[in-house]
Amino acid sequence: MNYKKVLENAKKIPDFRCRVCSECNGKACRGEIPGVGGKGSGLGFIRNVEKLKEIKLNMDTIYHSSKVDSSIEMFGKTFKYPIFAAPIGGLIPCYGEKLTDYEYAKAIVKGCKEAGTIGFTGDGVKDEYFMEPLYAIEENNSIGIPTIKPWSKNEILERLRAAESKNVPAVAMDIDVAGLSILAQAGKPVSPKSVEELKEIINATSLPFIIKGIMTVKGALKAMEAGAYGIVVSNHGGRVLDHTPATVEVLPKIVQAVGGKMKIFIDGGIRSGLDVLKVLALGADAVLIGRPYAIAAYGGGAEGVKLYTEKVGKELVEGMIMTGCRNLKEINQEIIF
Ligand SMILES: Cc1cc2nc3c(=O)[nH]c(=O)nc-3n(C[C@H](O)[C@H](O)[C@H](O)COP(=O)(O)O)c2cc1C
Repeated sequence: MNYKKVLENAKKIPDFRCRVCSECNGKACRGEIPGVGGKGSGLGFIRNVEKLKEIKLNMDTIYHSSKVDSSIEMFGKTFKYPIFAAPIGGLIPCYGEKLTDYEYAKAIVKGCKEAGTIGFTGDGVKDEYFMEPLYAIEENNSIGIPTIKPWSKNEILERLRAAESKNVPAVAMDIDVAGLSILAQAGKPVSPKSVEELKEIINATSLPFIIKGIMTVKGALKAMEAGAYGIVVSNHGGRVLDHTPATVEVLPKIVQAVGGKMKIFIDGGIRSGLDVLKVLALGADAVLIGRPYAIAAYGGGAEGVKLYTEKVGKELVEGMIMTGCRNLKEINQEIIF
């Protein structure tokens, strides 16, 4: 199989709710929730992609060359690329009948592991949306990061204990779904959490805790105060609030404020290795990619996920060579035009 075949396979899936567009930019699917689009006008998703495209790179190929090292250390592990699969949960309502949350997580976690990186798994209204992916993680040497929604404290602690029992390297919380009324309508309310509440949750585990869905300096500083290991600069792919800025627009100020005291991940509209290079140059430590990984998993299972990771990783390495960066530490603002 190659990546082209993966895309062709995905296009042929009956009733697949993603159109597998030639560019995954949020235009064709705007407003489609459940489905794969951005909320309302869809502008949050669309802007993520557009603002990344506006950033241009400086070429420099006069330097003492050595083998390019794209690896990164995190949670006591070394990954081949700073490229991770974002959590996607509630697969059947969003994508159609083909894959359960377990089958999807299996493809993501195994494919990322085989490519030398790591996949996050999701959560949702049904307990199985969180619990079943944990089995997929367990079956893959615990190389996976579960993401918990901001449910009630007891429910969060229950999920934390379940994650710990699988020896995962870290755990995340998508705090940005705190306003989603559809979860309450389905009998599973979520809510915003105060710094004190987050502190209590983070102190209840020895696992590195990542808070996903930070879009302001204020939010980043609150996550830091709560004791987070890292944050994901994310607008949830434009799915939780219409009319947000793009994640890449808010990144530099957050990086400046955090001052290296927490890991900074970013997602939203990242599609290629050059997009990865751009956000690393603006100060992110690593990226998450959402929808393109879903297309890879549906079109090619774990092999599709591995192929997509390798494709983006190779593009990143090529971009590093062309901009004079021999390792991730050498990637900085100077390569941005
Ligand atoms: C269908 C769908 C379901 C998602 N489910 C979750 C989830 O369960 N937990 C979570 O933290 N993020 C979830 N996300 C958000 C992604 O993790 C990620 O933030 C977003 O997709 C990144 O943008 P991109 O798709 O443009 O790369 C979901 C996104 C989509 C499209």
